Amino acid sequence: MARKPLIVRTVSPLRKAVATLRKKHDSVALVPTMGALHDGHFSLVRHARKRAGAVAVSIFVNPKQFAPNEDFGSYPRNFEQDVAALSKLGVDLIWAPTETAMYPGGFCTAITPGGPALAGLEDAFRPHFFGGVATVVAKLFLQVTPDVAIFGQKDYQQLKVVTRMARDLDLPVKVVGCPTMREKDGLALSSRNVYLSVEERVTAPVLYRVLKESAARIKAGEPIAAVLADGRAAIEKAGFKVDYLEGRHAETLEAVVSAADGPIRLLVAARLGRTRLIDNLGV
Ligand code: PAF
Repeated sequence: MARKPLIVRTVSPLRKAVATLRKKHDSVALVPTMGALHDGHFSLVRHARKRAGAVAVSIFVNPKQFAPNEDFGSYPRNFEQDVAALSKLGVDLIWAPTETAMYPGGFCTAITPGGPALAGLEDAFRPHFFGGVATVVAKLFLQVTPDVAIFGQKDYQQLKVVTRMARDLDLPVKVVGCPTMREKDGLALSSRNVYLSVEERVTAPVLYRVLKESAARIKAGEPIAAVLADGRAAIEKAGFKVDYLEGRHAETLEAVVSAADGPIRLLVAARLGRTRLIDNLGV
């Protein structure tokens, strides 16, 4: 029978709970999330289980990574459902801090990431985003003190930012990225897919189709700029407004001119109605 994980909401009981886990287990893995969990998150939890004796999942919709015009208020929240699913997966601990536990009155310290956080991708459209992510993830790492932290590759730039931050700040945690989980038609799983209308849901897999076709053409030696121009046109024709479709160095996220500058990662962000979708694929 599923055993309900321990749920903690403030830092002091969290520290006690982690200490107890550490007495029993050789290592602790953390899967940071904002809740509204889906199969993509569950695959991260399963991976965490393979990497460590104890698994903690954080659930916190972080206000600092949303701009005032973004969807913080309407971001899907399904706490009871999330707990039920994590129970079935045998998660040991759910760290679901209250907003004041995470950001007590007077909170005024922030991390300002550079490098991959300034690549001109997500940061160009959501300038507040990586500062908010880096600050909360640094806090999560210091609160839970995991040996390993598991992130999805769907938020590819985020994965690079967090990896760089952990390295730069000597945080004693190994950051691991796991492959994107997809629907049968290729749409990357995302908590925001619930915003798509029935018609938009039919169109949405175009993003992945274009990524796959573009990757194949670049691999076959076609010039990156021409391939991406075609890809952008195909995405727009399907009804999206494209924020970016770019080929970047897979590690540094720096611009690339030809396949010889690789390994290359293709990254896309586009809006379909009120839903902003992101995806990426290695060449
Ligand atoms: O990817 C997410 O869900 C969030 O950005 C994260 C890493 C949990 C930080 O709030």
